[in-house]
Amino acid sequence: MAAPKIITVGSVNLDLVASAEHLPAPGETVTGASFAQYPGGKGANQTLAARRLGAEVSMIGRVGDDPYADEALALLKADGVDLSGVITDEQAATGVALIGVDARGENQIIVASGANGEVGSGDVTGAGPADAVLCQLEVPVPAVMEAGKIETPLFAINLAPALPVPAALLERADLLIVNEIEADFYGALIHRGDGMVALTLGRQGSVLYRAGKEVARMNVFTVPVIDTTGAGDTFCGALVVALAEGMDEGKALRFASAAAALAVTKPGAQPSIPDRKEVEAFLADLP
Ligand code: RIB
Repeated sequence: MAAPKIITVGSVNLDLVASAEHLPAPGETVTGASFAQYPGGKGANQTLAARRLGAEVSMIGRVGDDPYADEALALLKADGVDLSGVITDEQAATGVALIGVDARGENQIIVASGANGEVGSGDVTGAGPADAVLCQLEVPVPAVMEAGKIETPLFAINLAPALPVPAALLERADLLIVNEIEADFYGALIHRGDGMVALTLGRQGSVLYRAGKEVARMNVFTVPVIDTTGAGDTFCGALVVALAEGMDEGKALRFASAAAALAVTKPGAQPSIPDRKEVEAFLADLP
């Protein structure tokens, strides 16, 4: 089948990552960490996941006019994402995420949004049509609202990080993707109309609901955990590709869970995102 066409509207960051034995408590200094920097940002990570997993992807976003921008966009460029909708903002810096990762692969993230905070509805106006549109909440809500006007059968929002949004935006979405913290934040608001909700439960797996009723459930795959950064984003990109391709709900959730499992086995948000062949080989090798 032809590759689905997906438009993403979201953030681009450079991730500055310190890996240490444990994460600092407030006021604590942790030494002995190793340092690395990787392309990141929830929008860019989900974009790359969708691309590596088989979609034609165009991204809308903003970076600064600085050296971090090239580094942040390097893997999206290398994998052939259409970046003509990513504006270079002369007034703002490229987004940066300061990330701590501990020996169990858990993380803490602080984001300095920079140019991501300048993404406006005008950046999105006129885009489309597409087989799916995928957004997150690391860019301003008006841009996400505008993305909801793009002609598509699958308008998906990863409600991360959780923040107040108009109820009309939640109602417009065909698919909402949340973790447990986000699900608690939005409560009953996310189960609206006939839409789908994908709930990720960390080591407890994931559940897919349609019109408020559970339609699929997956246990987590057992893999060595090196770094969980970007695994949720990989899940989002993979689920949207699978549903846009017409996979049934159970298969789509399995596909997304496998992609996310592979993403935790390597360090860094974007370097760890698997391609289609890796996910299919992983699923084929399961007992
Ligand atoms: O979801 C992981 C991402 O969150 C990181 O890549 C970081 O940039 C933050 O946006």
